[in-house]
Amino acid sequence: ETVSATGVGYEGPEDGRDPRAQAGDFLTSPMGVRLPDTDHSLKAGRRGPTLLEDFHLREKINAFDHERIPERVVHARGAAAHGVFTAYGTAGTITRAAVLAEKDLETPVFVRFSTVLGSRGSADTARDTRGFAVKFYSKEGNWDLVGNNMPVFFIQDAIKFPDIIHAGKPNPSREIPQAQSAHDSFWDFVTLHTEATHHTIWNMSDRGIPRSYRMMEGFGVHTFRLVNEARETVLVQFKWTPKLGVHSLTWEEAQLAAGADPDFHRRDLADAIEAGAFPEWELGVQVFPDNDEQMYEGIDLLDPTKIVPEEMVPVQPIGKLVLTANPTNYFAETEQVAFNTGHVVPGIEFTNDPLLQGRNFSYLDTQLTRLGGPNWRQIPVNRPHAPVNDNLRDGFMQQGIPTGDAPYLPNTVDDGEPKPADWEHGGYVTVPRHVEGDVVRETQSSFEDHFSQAAMFYASLSEPEKVHTTEAYTFELGKVYEKEIKVRALGVLAKIDTELCARVAAGLGLPAPEPDLVEHLEASPALSQVTGQTHPVD
Ligand code: HEM
Repeated sequence: ETVSATGVGYEGPEDGRDPRAQAGDFLTSPMGVRLPDTDHSLKAGRRGPTLLEDFHLREKINAFDHERIPERVVHARGAAAHGVFTAYGTAGTITRAAVLAEKDLETPVFVRFSTVLGSRGSADTARDTRGFAVKFYSKEGNWDLVGNNMPVFFIQDAIKFPDIIHAGKPNPSREIPQAQSAHDSFWDFVTLHTEATHHTIWNMSDRGIPRSYRMMEGFGVHTFRLVNEARETVLVQFKWTPKLGVHSLTWEEAQLAAGADPDFHRRDLADAIEAGAFPEWELGVQVFPDNDEQMYEGIDLLDPTKIVPEEMVPVQPIGKLVLTANPTNYFAETEQVAFNTGHVVPGIEFTNDPLLQGRNFSYLDTQLTRLGGPNWRQIPVNRPHAPVNDNLRDGFMQQGIPTGDAPYLPNTVDDGEPKPADWEHGGYVTVPRHVEGDVVRETQSSFEDHFSQAAMFYASLSEPEKVHTTEAYTFELGKVYEKEIKVRALGVLAKIDTELCARVAAGLGLPAPEPDLVEHLEASPALSQVTGQTHPVD
């Protein structure tokens, strides 16, 4: 059974052309009426007035008036491409998700890269985290791996997401990202909520200004739970490794590019694909035992501000991603694509990471507004390639023409169709996971170490990277107006590295505070054995 482009039961015009593709030979109205002229409105007499009966004028202006939709509340600026993911088959022992498990299975994908804080028209090379979102059109349904180019996040609980974004977005009075108060609110937030320290140092390092989307790593950030055919579970973290290596711009290059070509990354991606230089990444996983504690060697796997260093748990390759085609239409595809961490397939489950749990709500919620109602799932770029029979009905902009009289189950009217799918028929059957405890609103003690991994990251950098990072802190904190915030930031830097703190303090013309680094390193003993976790920028 096939589902047509326009919905069940309607196969398109007789010539077989897709009516959505604007493929007719003649200019028409949106109702398909051929038009002789699109430059002159209908007037009573050569010198007007214009007639209300001019349906072409009305339809043309009316469609134009409503061309804009809200940009994404975060990650508004992006660039995307189509491609293919090929599974190596090595993950077959840990998951039953065919997209990852089945050797040589090719799954179509749509990948969108983005900056986080800039608006849709902002420059590509701003210092920021980059989004790395992948939609797998798997034969078992859509799976979205909605990651970033950094392995950690600013906050540990989704309830703080509106706050960190409010602190980082442009100043509300002037809407200027570089205005003094925008720098003040960002640094105010990350020094008052010190769990942000680790992500912030990644931002201040060369990772904050990538050379190209083709040269970035990608991380799923959260710990996910995989389930195999025997219903055994493991915990994993996902990582994309670019074939071209990890490369960054210098700050001066980034600024020049922002002026000379604000579309620097967007152009680079599209040009490379058009020239046949298809960007490639390898997908890998770090695998951990699934136990009640969800900890690994003292590191809380539910804390998205932490990594498990690759020296402790190596990344095991499970598949390859190649981007092979540019979108045909930016709005239809790149703008309308709707990623959601909640889109999973059998064999891939969530963990109790409180950031992930909140994300699962937020994406669905925001897309209702951004894409105008619940039927955004029927937009071509969002449609699953697996057959859909969901019993969902109606709503604004319904595109399908569902058949049947009983969209509920069980029913005896439509012969009980569609049938529920059990485990054997590929149903998404959640493997039980133990939950117990009091209802509370408080932090967890295993989330309290905010500095040791930031210190580890800084220690892992090469000398030039350390210099760039020091300069970045000095430049960005130099834009902060309130002295109190700068002093607080130096207090945080003292907990990362004494020399880093001293250099930034000197750059700001302030005295360096006393360090108390040792106290924080002791909080996570496993980490003090590890010298570094990142690949230096090559
Ligand atoms: C958008 C990643 C945390 C809410 C995005 C996008 C990415 C991303 C890559 C852009 C998707 C696209 O290209 O269309 C991440 C990562 C996070 C994180 C890696 C942490 C690990 C959060 C949290 C929330 C959130 C905690 C809310 C509680 C949103 C929203 C959008 C978005 C509302 C816009 C989606 C849309 O309009 O379609 N995020 N995010 N994110 N994110 Fe996140």
